Amino acid sequence: MTSEFKLAPSILSADFSDLKLALSQCEDGGAHWIHVDVMDNQFVPNLTIGPPVVKSLRPKTNKFLDVHMMVIDPENLVEPFAKAGADQITFHIEATDNPQSVIDLIKSTGSRVGISIKPSTPLSEIEPFYDQIDLVLVMSVEPGFGGQGYIEESTDRIKNIKQKLTEECLQDRVLIEVDGGIKLHNAKEVIDAGADVLVAGSAVFNTDDPVQTIKDFYSL
Ligand code: DX5
Ligand code: ZN
Repeated sequence: MTSEFKLAPSILSADFSDLKLALSQCEDGGAHWIHVDVMDNQFVPNLTIGPPVVKSLRPKTNKFLDVHMMVIDPENLVEPFAKAGADQITFHIEATDNPQSVIDLIKSTGSRVGISIKPSTPLSEIEPFYDQIDLVLVMSVEPGFGGQGYIEESTDRIKNIKQKLTEECLQDRVLIEVDGGIKLHNAKEVIDAGADVLVAGSAVFNTDDPVQTIKDFYSL
């Protein structure tokens, strides 16, 4: 039986013309979180959704809204997303010269704080902030698009983060979320490496039965 974990389906892979369906599939499947991929076509070469979409989703679901900001100048979008109803706001360490101020700003809104790290960024960039955040979002693909393949080297990075958090007695407070290329066939490997939350976009929404697929993840 796979240890307790949370699934966070990414609506980036859902049908944007019918996000209400994606919400109901997450509800019916029993997903814990809903992962909202925000892209500004500057930090990553793609443009997706912003605070108005989160504002529309908020009243339609009680699920935890997990906002992943792949944007430059993340501090400019923190309050709009918090006001829109985000439960957690995650920014990229590569997107700001002053991560401390972004952490402080997110905390001031009452949202949970996440830091995300791209596959090639050294883990040492985020280690100084472990004791101030709620979550580390490990990118297991290059950010920008759903449907990519899991980068195998990510598994050792997850183990390394888990080990460091444990050394600092933070492993029960700081969650590890893994994002990109997560499928039913590799989910257990990622969980066993130390992941607490798995993002799954195409693995869920690019199937004939997203509700059953979500349930399949939880029966791993
Ligand atoms: C990529 C996003 C991911 C992506 C996951 O930049 O941050 O959340 O949507 O999609 P899959 O699960 O298809 O790799
Ligand atoms: Zn994401």
